[in-house]
Amino acid sequence: MLVGRGLLPQLGDLLQVEANAGPRESRYLMVDRGVDDVVALSHGAVAEAGLRSSGTLVVDRFRAGEHEKGLAVVQAGWDRMLASGLDRTSRVVAVGGGIACDVAGFIAATWMRGVKLTLVPTTLLAMVDAALGGKTGINRPLPDGGLGKNLVGAFWPADLVICDTDTLATLPDRELRAGLAECIKHGLIEGEETLASLESELDGVLSRDPEVLPAFVARSAGVKAEVVRRDFRESGERALLNLGHTYAHAMESRSSLGLLHGEAVGIGLVAAAAASVAAGMASPALVERVRRLVDRCGLPVALPGVTEVVLTEMRRAMTLDKKVAGGVLRLVLMRGVGAVEVVSDPGSEVVDAGWAAVRTEG
Ligand SMILES: NC(=O)c1ccc[n+]([C@@H]2O[C@H](COP(=O)([O-])OP(=O)(O)OC[C@H]3O[C@@H](n4cnc5c(N)ncnc54)[C@H](O)[C@@H]3O)[C@@H](O)[C@H]2O)c1
Repeated sequence: MLVGRGLLPQLGDLLQVEANAGPRESRYLMVDRGVDDVVALSHGAVAEAGLRSSGTLVVDRFRAGEHEKGLAVVQAGWDRMLASGLDRTSRVVAVGGGIACDVAGFIAATWMRGVKLTLVPTTLLAMVDAALGGKTGINRPLPDGGLGKNLVGAFWPADLVICDTDTLATLPDRELRAGLAECIKHGLIEGEETLASLESELDGVLSRDPEVLPAFVARSAGVKAEVVRRDFRESGERALLNLGHTYAHAMESRSSLGLLHGEAVGIGLVAAAAASVAAGMASPALVERVRRLVDRCGLPVALPGVTEVVLTEMRRAMTLDKKVAGGVLRLVLMRGVGAVEVVSDPGSEVVDAGWAAVRTEG
């Protein structure tokens, strides 16, 4: 993983030097149009020229969205690669947020049973989370009309992840803040030193200080990279990265709440801290610290106006999560900062204490 400033324009050279790309490598470049609109004029054209100089370059632009993150975009990618003669020695490159990384990753995982993959994440969330760890995937429509997130996918790690923090300059404010929820999560998992660094650098990150961002991104991404290195297939420790996510996924299942993933994770972290107190594992001071930090990021700390009906639906969504995990709800709880563990079947009182901490009557 490379993290720094001014990396995107050097993409072609970086592939040569850091990924040992062959001198005549064919490439399929997928660019998120939302990024292209704002970044391309300054950097993208240079990056594209660099990629093209070493061989065939096929470029596709697509509009990232959860509904576009599906089979149609993947099929279009396969067809373009077929028509352009991109064989098993070729490479897929993605420039964009988590959606571009997940879709391009899935194309790379499946084209000719797998080709090389390089990711250039351009959102904070993708830099510290989605581009790392090798999970790729697409959504599928559900029979009830909803959207099943990441139902089809594969483990297929990129051989190079390039985080150019200069691209964060154009990221919408709400998206930047959403990415910070995952950074808080990484601090809570890793320990006091990482969380304290986050607390002290937060103002610089929120003002997008270009001198602060590279070290901040590298530290947070490093937490995920290290956990994944030790447990790639999620047979143990990697499950700790789900801190706050069981609550978050339940909130996201109610699209009427209108939350971004990171916003749901922020609220989910507060809920998980409160559940940890109810389980007798942590002190109430932890809940306050997490709530204060989430709030400082400009993220919501509670769900306003949640009716009993919606709460019941979210509880049910957690039960569905439970089925996926083999019939037993597994909640990630905290004994303190840097002391996080998976608790099997924590009991409804513990789970509900989490909901009570983040719910305001509606
Ligand atoms: N594979 C994994 O391990 C993993 C982990 C976490 C999340 N994800 C997935 O990631 C996706 C969310 O990713 P995301 O939060 O990056 O959202 P995203 O990819 O939808 O990007 C958010 C928005 O920001 C725009 N954008 C991106 N970079 C920009 C830039 N530099 N300047 C201006 N606009 C920019 C995009 O066009 C988009 O509109 C979800 O689909 C989620 O399932 C995957």
